[in-house]
Amino acid sequence: MLGLLLLQVLASCLCLGHSEVVTSFKTACTQFFYAQTPPNDILRPKNAARICQFYENNHRFATMYDKTQRIPVYSAYIYKPGRGSRSDSWFVEPQLINKDYRKAMDTEDSIKREYKISSDDIGQNQAIDHDYRNLVDLDRGHLCPSGHQPDDDSKWATFTLTNIVPQNSSLNHGAWRIYEEETMPQKARNCDTTYVITGAVPASTNGRVNVPSHIWSAACCLEGTIWSAACCLEGTNPTRAWGAIAKNEGNNNQVTELNLGRLEKKLSKLYGVKDVTLFKNSCSQQ
Ligand SMILES: *[C@@H]1O[C@H](CO)[C@@H](O)[C@H](O)[C@H]1NC(C)=O
Repeated sequence: MLGLLLLQVLASCLCLGHSEVVTSFKTACTQFFYAQTPPNDILRPKNAARICQFYENNHRFATMYDKTQRIPVYSAYIYKPGRGSRSDSWFVEPQLINKDYRKAMDTEDSIKREYKISSDDIGQNQAIDHDYRNLVDLDRGHLCPSGHQPDDDSKWATFTLTNIVPQNSSLNHGAWRIYEEETMPQKARNCDTTYVITGAVPASTNGRVNVPSHIWSAACCLEGTIWSAACCLEGTNPTRAWGAIAKNEGNNNQVTELNLGRLEKKLSKLYGVKDVTLFKNSCSQQ
């Protein structure tokens, strides 16, 4: 009996500690999605990696990554702006190089040293620092921005290149920044929990790293607490949702705000797929 129990504990530990590149967001990293439900599979690229972003002993947010385009499709996180600093270094994901490598994001230099590999090895399935150094007028645009995270470690964790897309500099410093820093706090006022999914639509490019055609974001606001029969006091009541989208290519420094349904329709068109669903039950009241 005791042996069986030990075996179970051991098995669950192995499973939990196994990997930060996970096989499904339906069973891992669910804490970053409203109702523990990721967007429907339609947004999954062919050569996908699901990363449960791990830094300083904690999971910080979730990223669906496209290993062919070398940009994220989306990052999902809980909006909790707080004080803290920005990282000076950039990180990459060791498990995109080799699934047996360590699970915490790290700098290229320390990964090269630890595993005796080159930048080329690191860059096979993901963007590396060098890719961004050559870009003109394009910033390292965060999908999960450091400003929406609560503390130093969570902010630093957003400085992984797996959370970054080449973003038009004027947009990054202009309208998108206003959306992140002014619109979001207004919209999320009175929300007890705000789940956010921010993504990028890949464009056709020749480079190693795709320069997305659009950048978009959606949020689901929960107020008050509800009693969940399955568990305990769990989450809160979904009361509203909203969305925003901006052209990154041929940008005119403009962010369009739109409701969730319209954003999902627009994304279905842009990705050329059927019926994108970002939040379970459209984040409406159940
Ligand atoms: C970025 O957008 C501005 C307009 O806001 C435009 O003038 C510029 O050419 C764009 N840069 C790139 C690299 O697309």
